[in-house]
Amino acid sequence: MNITNDIFYVGVNDHQVDLFEGQYVVPNGMAYNSYVIKDEKIAVMDTVDQNFTEEWLGKVAEVLGDRLPDYLVVQHMEPDHAANIDTFLQKYPQAVVVSSAKAFPMMKNFFGSDYAERRLVVGEGDTLELGTHTLTFVAAPMVHWPEVIVTYDSTDKVLFSADGFGKFGALDAEEDWACEARRYYIGIVGKYGVQVQNLLKKAAGLDIQKILPLHGPILTENLGYYINLYDIWSSYGVESEGVMIAYTSVYGHTKKAAEMLAAKLEEKGCPKVVLSDLARSDMAENVEDAFRYGKLVLATTTYNADIFPFMKEFINHLTERAYKNRTIGFIENGSWAPNAAKTMKAMLEGCKNITYTDTTVRILSAVNEANEAEIEKLAAELC
Ligand code: FEO
Repeated sequence: MNITNDIFYVGVNDHQVDLFEGQYVVPNGMAYNSYVIKDEKIAVMDTVDQNFTEEWLGKVAEVLGDRLPDYLVVQHMEPDHAANIDTFLQKYPQAVVVSSAKAFPMMKNFFGSDYAERRLVVGEGDTLELGTHTLTFVAAPMVHWPEVIVTYDSTDKVLFSADGFGKFGALDAEEDWACEARRYYIGIVGKYGVQVQNLLKKAAGLDIQKILPLHGPILTENLGYYINLYDIWSSYGVESEGVMIAYTSVYGHTKKAAEMLAAKLEEKGCPKVVLSDLARSDMAENVEDAFRYGKLVLATTTYNADIFPFMKEFINHLTERAYKNRTIGFIENGSWAPNAAKTMKAMLEGCKNITYTDTTVRILSAVNEANEAEIEKLAAELC
């Protein structure tokens, strides 16, 4: 597949993967993108997952025709892209591997060699001339590992963006970009908003007409839309007005309170209410929603003198991704020593710029009239 006259797509679709990166369900599979730039010199941009070695090498060989590659550019060492470095370098012994200084010790750890005899170490602003194409390397540490570089081709005005602007889903799946790109971003890169902001600032100085990520579709039009979403996500901004109510419920009483609150919010014309049972839904989707909307209500029970495990896991996902800039309310339930709201608030202590609602709903087993009044008050505060 030609992307430009000289840039070819040689990536693969993975519909076998059960959990991407060992934890994310990917109902529409995953794409591992790789590209070949064919000029006076030939550069292959990254490899693919280990389960697709033959398919990938076949595609690369087809694009190469009777020529040999000069460079393998490694932008990111995570094995979904880097698994075939050694295989490639064995197959093409004349090729030089181009990567950042931090990547080579990782190659030694993965493959037993840091390719000292055939490597080119590049850093911020370094260039590689291929003929008519000049590649400029831009350091992108922690987007999403420390060794990451992205690459700008000033001839075709293309940014090879590594994991940036990637999404879940194979390229042959028809699905909305933002939904699976957001779940991917928040889940995988969400902790590193500052580093993504730094990269966006550098990218703002480049004339970019196409973004070629390592996952998901090649972005060729309306780039402002994607860049704006990345700016919101990485600055922990509110993308959509609305309230997420995340709950766990053992016998249905906490669930009832959560549903009552959802109904009240809808009655009041709240633009969007998302109600989610944390034990029975995709955790990554829930984490995504918590970051998407501006307001969050956490509803759970006291459990083992702590809180219910799914809520504990959910809050941990938020805090480890630097959750901030939000309004939070609580619904707690406990039959003999209710303490869930206090425990949740303590877990969120390190989160910056959080506004807590004045009202906390306190259920002592089942929802009673006093709770109904509290729910009404909480709804009024939120909407
Ligand atoms: Fe797609 Fe961080 O690897």
